[in-house]
Amino acid sequence: MDRIIVHRSGPLSGTVPIAGAKNSVLKLMAATALAEGRYELTNVPRITDVDCMGELLGSMGMTVTASGDHGLVIEHHDGLVPEAPYELVERMRASIVVMGPLVARYGRARVALPGGDDFGPRPIDMHLRALEQLGATFETAHGYIEARAERLVGTRILLEFPSVGATENALMAAVLAKGTTVIDNAAREPEIADLASFLTRMGAQILGAGSSTIEVEGVDELSAVEHRVVPDRIEAATFLAAVGIAGGEITLTGARADHMDMLIAKLGEMGMRISPTADGLWAMAPGRLLATDVSTLPYPGVATDYKPLLVAMLATADGVGIVTENLFSGRFRYVDELVRMGADIRTEGHHAVIRGVEQLSGAPVRAPDIRAGAALVVAGLRAEGETVVAGADHIDRGYELFVEKLRAIGASVDRG
Ligand code: UD1
Repeated sequence: MDRIIVHRSGPLSGTVPIAGAKNSVLKLMAATALAEGRYELTNVPRITDVDCMGELLGSMGMTVTASGDHGLVIEHHDGLVPEAPYELVERMRASIVVMGPLVARYGRARVALPGGDDFGPRPIDMHLRALEQLGATFETAHGYIEARAERLVGTRILLEFPSVGATENALMAAVLAKGTTVIDNAAREPEIADLASFLTRMGAQILGAGSSTIEVEGVDELSAVEHRVVPDRIEAATFLAAVGIAGGEITLTGARADHMDMLIAKLGEMGMRISPTADGLWAMAPGRLLATDVSTLPYPGVATDYKPLLVAMLATADGVGIVTENLFSGRFRYVDELVRMGADIRTEGHHAVIRGVEQLSGAPVRAPDIRAGAALVVAGLRAEGETVVAGADHIDRGYELFVEKLRAIGASVDRG
């Protein structure tokens, strides 16, 4: 059952509920290492990356239980084993965000070094430098990094790039450091603001999260809290791409238009009409989109995670579009799969030139990662014949009930 079978569909119509953000909930789960007690997260997406982070917390000594409709209860009372084993870090790179909270709370963290992935090399030098500036020391042996610190001490951290993960690790460490920490050139993603609001609820003193300068006044102790996870802007973007490609009119409940301004402007240039509703977003797409040029940038720019979706949309748009990747060098692997479906795409360094065709041609393809996998599925909505996307387990890492939600708006999609 790790394949998704797609037939040409559209126009789409109906309503899709948008889940909580994968890229937020994983960090909130990691942040629970900062204080003992009972946490209750709501709006938690039922995705396998959450299971994986749950396993990691479990291996450290926490109890993680699903509760009710999209709830997650996390509990620990007697200290933790501050360690992230290789088999979990290898499965999910985001596991490295446990390092900051563990070293801040327990003075020690042993975390497997993540390897490369399909996006190309993804170093963690900025994470380590930030923690080092707060007073941690590191030793590397046998594929593990061991961090140690007495109490961390607040300082000024200037990130050389607004890395999401490094900002999160630094922020989670700084909340328990002695004195003031200023993180400059911080990432501004909505998921960082969500993490900061969770930490603030726990008792942390944070100013400026969501802007480039975050100021933290360290506290001695934090406590467990309840929190509702921010909606997933990338899941919302995926359904906008689906309607963009197949045509039609949909409503996304729970989505936050204000977290997607730049993308919404781009999709407007491509001919879509999108407007906020009381509880989400409404979107309409004409029969065929118009081509445009896009560059990925840190937030509030167009997110790199949207890129495979935009490339899939441009593959059948009217005209030529150029997509430029500015974050991850190797993030064009799915292009070969789209070309197998009849797309006219040439890549040159970090640029892709996409000449839209009227429709694609269904083919067997393979999902190389979460977002690219979703992009191949939505591309199949405008492909004649059958598209079979293998490797759908990648999609399950980040999408809850993806097939069911697409079917609910009239797409011909099956698990098989
Ligand atoms: C997070 C998101 C990912 C998204 C990305 C950028 C999660 C689980 N993942 O990943 O979906 O695509 O933000 O919005 O939230 N870099 C370094 N050294 C470091 C850290 C990063 O060189 O220590 C580089 C990376 O190689 C990359 C760039 O900085 O080129 C951005 O990476 P970063 O923002 O850290 O991405 P992640 O936090 O890994």
